[in-house]
Amino acid sequence: MKKDFAFSYDVYQDSSELSPDDRKLLEMARKVTANAYAPYSQFLVGAAARMSNGNLIEGTNQENASFPVGLCAERVLLSTASSLFPQIPIDTMAVSYKNLKGHNDRPISPCGICRQSLLEYESRGNSPIKIILSGQTGEVVVLASAKLLLPFSFDKKDME
Ligand code: THU
Repeated sequence: MKKDFAFSYDVYQDSSELSPDDRKLLEMARKVTANAYAPYSQFLVGAAARMSNGNLIEGTNQENASFPVGLCAERVLLSTASSLFPQIPIDTMAVSYKNLKGHNDRPISPCGICRQSLLEYESRGNSPIKIILSGQTGEVVVLASAKLLLPFSFDKKDME
């Protein structure tokens, strides 16, 4: 038997095509890159989330002279969300970046560890996390759920 995995996602020319709420969240992610601590990579990442109660929170990547100690913006954001609002699901997360050494005009997507972490909070909140990805300018990619980013994932159901 052969099975397929496929999913649909939305692509917009730029942020003007988003809803006002989503545009605001993406603008927050773009701006908060200024708070990143990324002296080693010069790649400043910003994330912003809207919780299901309407609260807005932000996160940025935090690097370390011992490189593996560094944290991605997405996981800083998820830990902040879970610490401030432990019982509130995350509704939408936007991710942007400011690359001091190169392009800034196309989306990036979360690394493998962040995808696993996103999945944990998505299943904990029992509702899909919409994901908005874009650079400082240009195309915007929108996924309806974090689980689309990680097929064949391992989660708590596997441990029952
Ligand atoms: N980084 C993030 O914060 N999020 C991503 O989605 C990709 C990578 C960070 C990790 C590191 O501080 C820098 O970007 C370069 O990899």
